[in-house]
Amino acid sequence: MGIRFNEVSYTYNSFSDMEASAIYKISLDIKEKDEFIALVGHTGSGKTTLAKHMNALIFPTSGYMEIFGKKIEHKRNKKIKYNDIRQNVGLVFQFPEYQLFEETVLKDVMFGPMNFHIDKEEAKELAMNAIRLVGLDESYFERNPYNLSGGEKKRVSIAGILAMDPKILVLDEPTSGLDPAGKRVLMELFLNIHETTNKTVVIITHDMDLVYEYFNRVIVMNEGEKIYEGEPEKLFRNSALIEEYLDYPNSIKVLKHLNKTLKLDLDVFKKTADDVLAEIKKAVK
Ligand SMILES: Nc1ncnc2c1ncn2[C@@H]1O[C@H](COP(=O)(O)OP(=O)(O)OP(=O)(O)O)[C@@H](O)[C@H]1O
Ligand SMILES: [Mg+2]
Repeated sequence: MGIRFNEVSYTYNSFSDMEASAIYKISLDIKEKDEFIALVGHTGSGKTTLAKHMNALIFPTSGYMEIFGKKIEHKRNKKIKYNDIRQNVGLVFQFPEYQLFEETVLKDVMFGPMNFHIDKEEAKELAMNAIRLVGLDESYFERNPYNLSGGEKKRVSIAGILAMDPKILVLDEPTSGLDPAGKRVLMELFLNIHETTNKTVVIITHDMDLVYEYFNRVIVMNEGEKIYEGEPEKLFRNSALIEEYLDYPNSIKVLKHLNKTLKLDLDVFKKTADDVLAEIKKAVK
């Protein structure tokens, strides 16, 4: 069942009829399982607006959605339990630091499961596991979230969603503001969750290196419209699209640069540093 967008447009409350849509006539299918999707696009292109629809945090201005079989339209339907949708689709916000409000990390992460009526002891167990999963040890349990670094806060808020064990995970720029090692640790964590549970994971990112290396499907937004959907490799082979709207991953950039400056003919579509090195070694021989 998963999530289906049917020509969904959304305009933030405005006082003028001229206000542009934040997203415009988006149709999209996200399967309940087995997907690992990157959502990319310029700042202001509508990524966060799209993500907020995925767990019915906001409702389409026009068009409709189906989320786990529930039809979500502009008008609220009293028969639909929106809370259930939010348990099925866990959304980690772009600026999670503003969502942390309990006085300890453990309490904060327990909040989600308890909100969905899991008893206290079990919620505590789920929370402790989730905190460890995101790479924070026990010394964090009793700390005040307010006093953590930005990256640590981000991890705590991700733990808060993991503890609810949603069917689909939607993460709005989960790796922004982290150091390179931290980025990889989190990406490996999301990939691991995806691979061991088959959960669908949707990740918003500006990082083309991550898109190329980790994902099997990418959705590109531009000015509220979906302009590409498919394999990352195919996207990066579309130079017109990349040069106008996005950027190449570093691996492709380096190889393109070598081709140009040294007049080589390397295959530029290599994902990892090791693959790049192997390609260069071929030319050196
Ligand atoms: N609360 C709001 N009220 C009014 N307009 C908004 C609001 N939030 C977003 N917008 C507008 O909607 C459009 C899409 O914004 P959105 O936050 O979805 O973009 P984004 O792709 O997530 O950008 P970023 O990469 O900077 O996070 C932008 O033009 C933005 O100015
Ligand atoms: Mg955003």
